[in-house]
Amino acid sequence: MLFFRGNHHAMDKYRHGENPFALVTGSSLGIGKAVAVELAALHFNVILHARTVEELEPVKEEIHKLYPGTRVVCLAQDAAVKVDWPHLLNQVKDLNITVLVNNVGTSSPFLPFDSLEKSEDDQIEAVIRVNTIFPTQITRNLLPTLMNNSPSLILNICSGSTYAPMAFLGIYCGSKASNLAWSQSLRNELRLLKRDVECKAVMTGNVATNGNSIPVDTFVPSAKVYAKSLLARADSSGPVYNGYWRHTPQLLICQFLGFFFPSVLDNICANVAKGLLVWRAQIGDKTALKVTDIPKYRHGERPFALVTGATAGIGKALAFELARLNFNVIIHGRTQEKLDPIRNELLEKHPDMSVVCLVQDASKTADWPALIKQLEGLRITVLINNVGASGPVPYNALECATDEQIETVIRVNTIFPTQLTRNLLPNLIENAPSLILNLTSGAALVFPPLLSVYSGTKSSNLAWSQALAHEFHYLKRDVTCKAVMTGSVQSAGHNRAISAFIPTSEVYAASLLARAGTSSLVYAGWWRHALQASVLLRTIVASSDQTLVCQRFFDELSACLRFELGSRRRHKGSVNMAAKYW
Ligand SMILES: NC(=O)c1ccc[n+]([C@@H]2O[C@H](COP(=O)([O-])OP(=O)(O)OC[C@H]3O[C@@H](n4cnc5c(N)ncnc54)[C@H](OP(=O)(O)O)[C@@H]3O)[C@@H](O)[C@H]2O)c1
Repeated sequence: MLFFRGNHHAMDKYRHGENPFALVTGSSLGIGKAVAVELAALHFNVILHARTVEELEPVKEEIHKLYPGTRVVCLAQDAAVKVDWPHLLNQVKDLNITVLVNNVGTSSPFLPFDSLEKSEDDQIEAVIRVNTIFPTQITRNLLPTLMNNSPSLILNICSGSTYAPMAFLGIYCGSKASNLAWSQSLRNELRLLKRDVECKAVMTGNVATNGNSIPVDTFVPSAKVYAKSLLARADSSGPVYNGYWRHTPQLLICQFLGFFFPSVLDNICANVAKGLLVWRAQIGDKTALKVTDIPKYRHGERPFALVTGATAGIGKALAFELARLNFNVIIHGRTQEKLDPIRNELLEKHPDMSVVCLVQDASKTADWPALIKQLEGLRITVLINNVGASGPVPYNALECATDEQIETVIRVNTIFPTQLTRNLLPNLIENAPSLILNLTSGAALVFPPLLSVYSGTKSSNLAWSQALAHEFHYLKRDVTCKAVMTGSVQSAGHNRAISAFIPTSEVYAASLLARAGTSSLVYAGWWRHALQASVLLRTIVASSDQTLVCQRFFDELSACLRFELGSRRRHKGSVNMAAKYW
């Protein structure tokens, strides 16, 4: 039973030096507050964080009353806005911080459960800022301190919703999936660089807090019980652990079944049928690979397909392939100068097609009404969210990245596609049947070091895409939404030699469109990537959403077993894999 409940000395290792401090973000209420109080009980001094100092005063008082002598520092910062990090962290620069708990999170500052159609652009940005940008940037800014004060610990509070992305919570599920992937990628990186900083993702099921109306029951602990448990389990050997032992069966079931839309039974039947179909399509029969239904979206008068990031690489190749398939195309890029030659080339090859340019730097805040006005009157039936950035320095350790680089990658890869999709939804719904393809990456599944922010954003694309597909199903919209798992492809941004497993952008673009008819919510854009993924990742993980769920199920199962059996073996595997990978 002790194994299940954890170890009371799990945090001892990080309580060293003079006056050790633990910083807990979002600690005015709920789990954050309970974790801060529990850390004080474990003889840590604490740095509390919330929007205002007034919100933190009662927590400070409570800690002083319960544990006199504990030093408590309050940091006031709204996580939903751009942060002046040097100014904020100057207040704690001389403190011996050995523990960082990234707890702050929100489903939406305005409407907790709403469809993408009804969300506002500033809500989307706020959720992604609070849940993704803020934890990543605070970690980057505190990494030198944590390395200096090692051994140290970063705990990232994630959510069980990642395993089963839900309708009406797509942006939240995406941002939490991002935390989970980023955390694992960062852990691999810290080990690769031999930093004595431990980084773990904590999977959290339902917890009764004053922010939600869920009552305490067998599987729903109070925030206090949960905080005690998650800290007691912090010496789990895996990169991810469940904060509370009774959440383990819940999360496993949740992962195994996926989320029950429209019903558990339907889901099981669909899983079996799709699994067989996808397996046959991916590996079994090469002729079955051409599961195209792209012509289905070429209907009505002058149908348009919009491709983001169409000035180079896969995006450019997609624009040409769509024009070849008789779609009029809208090409997006950051400047007119970059788009003009592509437009001319397209018109030269396909003089009967219309080509429209959409200029917007995806890393900057867009004036969406003005941008969408330019597309007025165009019947858009296909949207391909292809634009992606790994950063100005593609392979970069988090400790070397700048806050600007982090924000750029997250804006280009998550905020821009989400806001663009939201703004185009009325057009896509009116011109249904329509299709949204979101390009994600194998990095969302293998968590490579030196690409942690990218890995997080691509995992976010994957979860958000699945949640959106469930949402369309539930709202009976005839809009299909799929995530395309992309392995290595030669492109402008990924200048690798062509090989058996690295196609040109042109080959890849033709293949991913040809395979868009697969019944799966997640599919590999090229059959050899599916094969590669099957071999490398043990299952046909990249070929279907269901197998993705299975992959995570087995990962979680093995992590739980390792923990529950008290294994303290270091996770050498992931470091070796990372070293080989790079
Ligand atoms: N290639 C691979 O091996 C690979 C693997 C996995 C996933 N993917 C995913 O596939 C997608 C395409 O990748 P790719 O290799 O074709 O990329 P790429 O060759 O680097 O091309 C990226 C495209 O996005 C545009 N772009 C980048 N930042 C932008 C910004 N701030 N504003 C507007 N446009 C911007 C680029 O325009 P500029 O010309 O102006 O820079 C270019 O058109 C990405 O989502 C990527 O994550 C690729």
